[in-house]
Amino acid sequence: MRIVHISDIHVAERHFIRELMERVIERVNSLKPEILVLTGDLTDSGYLYEFEDAKAFIERFECERRVVVPGNHDARNVGYLYFEDIFGARSSVLNHKGVTVVAVDSTQPDLDEGHIGRDKYDWIRKSLQNAGDDLKIFALHHHLLPVPYTGRERNILTDAGDVLKLLNDCNVNLVLCGHKHVSWVWVLNNMIVLNAGTACTNRLKYRILPSFNLIEVKDTDDPNKKRIQVRRIYSKDGSEIYVLDKIIEKS
Ligand SMILES: [Fe+2]
Ligand SMILES: [Fe+2]
Repeated sequence: MRIVHISDIHVAERHFIRELMERVIERVNSLKPEILVLTGDLTDSGYLYEFEDAKAFIERFECERRVVVPGNHDARNVGYLYFEDIFGARSSVLNHKGVTVVAVDSTQPDLDEGHIGRDKYDWIRKSLQNAGDDLKIFALHHHLLPVPYTGRERNILTDAGDVLKLLNDCNVNLVLCGHKHVSWVWVLNNMIVLNAGTACTNRLKYRILPSFNLIEVKDTDDPNKKRIQVRRIYSKDGSEIYVLDKIIEKS
């Protein structure tokens, strides 16, 4: 099972590099992923023309199973309503061949800080419980854990501690997020927390290049264990590096 994780395309922003986006689309299509996860900041300011541009690019990914959540930039100027019109619900669940992706909106209107909120915890718990013994993936825009090269820490969810416990209690295996354009991976308990950088902008922190993530889920001899391999693919030249190769227990 191949899953591509892309974040922070920021279409229409002055930092958006169309040529890089074209390369990303071409590379992703050559990978033939079964699931595509986009963890927010599709736009700069949440305006309609930006969402329409983003949609036109995203539709060119040859992957019928797309999971999309909004980022803080998409929630600006009431952009979350356009998000719903164009991409559907801001939180969603996808099940496919033993993998469940629970994707949750972590934005607040016109604020950069992320927040899941207690009112969503029951829905998240039920959605993950319904996944049974599937591999469980949780997707959101904001950081669940701090990552380096982001300066003064103001990026993790305001309720990160409670969300971490909730996801751990529900045996989540993989968390996908974006936001500060730094690609990074942490492993906490049995949970991989994977940040994607920006795929196609020059809003880059110290020597970090635009990239996206390729996740491969492989069977092992033990039906309760999966092998997760993560590669970071650089948008400009398509080169790649392994960032993780780990066997995890599904529950
Ligand atoms: Fe961003
Ligand atoms: Fe963001």
